[in-house]
Amino acid sequence: MPLGTTLITGGAGNLARQLSADLAEAGHRVVLVDLPPSAPDLPFEYHVADISNRERLESILAEVRPDRVIHFASLLSGGSEDNRDLAWRVNADGAFGLFEAALATGVSSIFFPSSVAAYGSPLPETVPPDQPQWPSGLYGVTKACVERLGVYYHRRFGLDFRCLRLPVVVSRFAPPGAASAYASRCFVEAASSGRFTFHVRPETSPSLIYIKDVLRAIRNLLDAPHKQLTQRIYNLQALSPSAGEICRAINDRIPDARLEFDPDAEVTQLIESWPVRFDDSAARTDWGWSPHFELNSLADDFLGELTDGDADGRRLRGTG
Ligand SMILES: NC(=O)c1ccc[n+]([C@@H]2O[C@H](COP(=O)([O-])OP(=O)(O)OC[C@H]3O[C@@H](n4cnc5c(N)ncnc54)[C@H](O)[C@@H]3O)[C@@H](O)[C@H]2O)c1
Repeated sequence: MPLGTTLITGGAGNLARQLSADLAEAGHRVVLVDLPPSAPDLPFEYHVADISNRERLESILAEVRPDRVIHFASLLSGGSEDNRDLAWRVNADGAFGLFEAALATGVSSIFFPSSVAAYGSPLPETVPPDQPQWPSGLYGVTKACVERLGVYYHRRFGLDFRCLRLPVVVSRFAPPGAASAYASRCFVEAASSGRFTFHVRPETSPSLIYIKDVLRAIRNLLDAPHKQLTQRIYNLQALSPSAGEICRAINDRIPDARLEFDPDAEVTQLIESWPVRFDDSAARTDWGWSPHFELNSLADDFLGELTDGDADGRRLRGTG
């Protein structure tokens, strides 16, 4: 008997493919929704749908009857600047359609991953929980917008909306459409080809988090009893190394890797407008959040996975 049904939008993506394996292992029925998959090997029930097609979404929700939805479908930071029309349609209209479809079909719980990009400079060194949000990029604008929508549906209709503002996630499958993908690709490419060029400055240091800590944080927030939650949206802090420090951590472990810097002004400016460090005390107090990985343990674990793990990254799905 499964623990319940979790439907994941953006189900073929980076975070979804790792979280879905974890949830299935823990006994959940997992159902994925995404555009047609580029890899045909996803071992879960899969519905092809454009998230901005509300009618299609509603019919899938009515058929699947999920206990909760994890809403990952999104254009990322780089892709959103490249195609603003599509970014608004997918990220903002798509989320609005999902909230409405959830109401219409009786879905009671939605998890949403917001981002460091929901803030913009100037910011204090440590971002407090009540920091005003003035994102620099359209991706961040859509994230801030969906945060507000989620709180509205919670207050007005009792929807169990839960949200984490995720730092930049270090993961094997980091999609190239994210301006911040360098924080993952440097490890992946150093391990595979022995070369990587950073398109940010050595000093660039947005807040980062390792995939294993992300998966654990999402599951812990989803499992937290209602009465423990003092808010609907939580900041997370894990580590904030500069690109130069990441470079040294890789070279300490792969001395002959050729790592170079060729900063792109636009990418660097966008990433340097994001928070370096969050005050995440509410997450720590309410549901016991604390990261397990800092830079050295991340580099050991990730490079170990990349050099020893099996080809599809199955070992990356561990829980840390
Ligand atoms: N990876 C990170 O560093 C990070 C950090 C903060 C927040 N997030 C958020 O987490 C979520 C997942 O990120 P990810 O790293 O897995 O990205 P990803 O690009 O790998 O996954 C996004 C998925 O959304 C799907 N998608 C795009 N347009 C769609 C549409 N019109 N209809 C249906 N599906 C569509 C894509 O096909 C893709 O599979 C996103 O909402 C992202 O903004 C990620």
